[in-house]
Amino acid sequence: MTVKKLGVLGAGTMGAGIAQVGAQAGLQVTLVDIDQKFVDKALAGMKKNWEKSVAKGKLSEEAMKKYLDNIQISCSNDDLKDCDLLIEVIVENIDIKKKVFKELNEICSPDTVFASNTSGFSITEIGVASGRPEKMVGMHFFNPVPVMKLVEVIPGVETSPDTIALATETCQVIGKTPIPAKEAPGFIVNRLLVPYLNDAAHAYDEGVASVEAIDEAMKLGANMPIGPLALCDLVGIDVLLNVVEYFYKEFGDPKFRPAQALKNKVRAGHYGIKTGKGFYDYATK
Ligand code: CAA
Repeated sequence: MTVKKLGVLGAGTMGAGIAQVGAQAGLQVTLVDIDQKFVDKALAGMKKNWEKSVAKGKLSEEAMKKYLDNIQISCSNDDLKDCDLLIEVIVENIDIKKKVFKELNEICSPDTVFASNTSGFSITEIGVASGRPEKMVGMHFFNPVPVMKLVEVIPGVETSPDTIALATETCQVIGKTPIPAKEAPGFIVNRLLVPYLNDAAHAYDEGVASVEAIDEAMKLGANMPIGPLALCDLVGIDVLLNVVEYFYKEFGDPKFRPAQALKNKVRAGHYGIKTGKGFYDYATK
């Protein structure tokens, strides 16, 4: 089976990015969230990205119009019922994901393949809760989705070979490189990246250096494209803290103890770029 209709549940930064690359690849994309303002914001963001490409001469007006025609926005999960592949990109909370997939199992065609963009939760556990574990797969995208090439493809214990093949092929269709990973907390990238980001926040807590100095040091000394604390802001400190806390619980290893700065910023609602403030202040940028 080849994907023609792509459903995306969750219109935050990642969901909007996935919808964007799907529309660019000519898929019929339905993007759903619980509130009209979220889907409107996501569509406006995509349009802005495409307008920038048109202004740079990298995209024609006609192509942009086609991309826009490929996207339908909605606030009803019922509109996801006949999609071939449904990618869930909602809040990083395993109990909410399990509940939502159970509901989607009632709504969607039995042929619909379910994918979760979870950054590290168990695909097996989400699959079993959904009621269709053989059709559940992890498809983990990276932020910003229109730019980052990788998608980690993660089977659960009961995921069928057809489901894995569909997820893998869809990555290729939308211009991404699929890399298979076993089900383990954080898969490949977050297993290595999240402790690094958490350690940068610990270094900041301990007064090793300022936010700016830590970031500049990693750019100049390790050739990172972006400093770790700026990357916390890009990923979303709320998302990051959820993953760190999950690692801490799952591995039972004190090296994953969440940095105080991450906890304080989440308590203050300073999640990073998406809220206008994190380690940096974006209101002034
Ligand atoms: N959406 C769409 N396009 C974007 C974009 C966005 N949010 N941000 C940048 N771009 C595009 C720009 O339009 C530009 O395109 P053109 O080449 O066509 O002009 C291109 O990307 C380069 O952008 P810039 O020159 O403005 O910026 P840059 O050189 O600083 O690169 C970056 C931006 C590629 C994002 C770079 O900062 C980078 O590599 N950052 C690290 C990103 C990263 O590590 N992501 C993984 C996070 S972990 C994760 O996501 C998983 C998880 O579960 C937590």
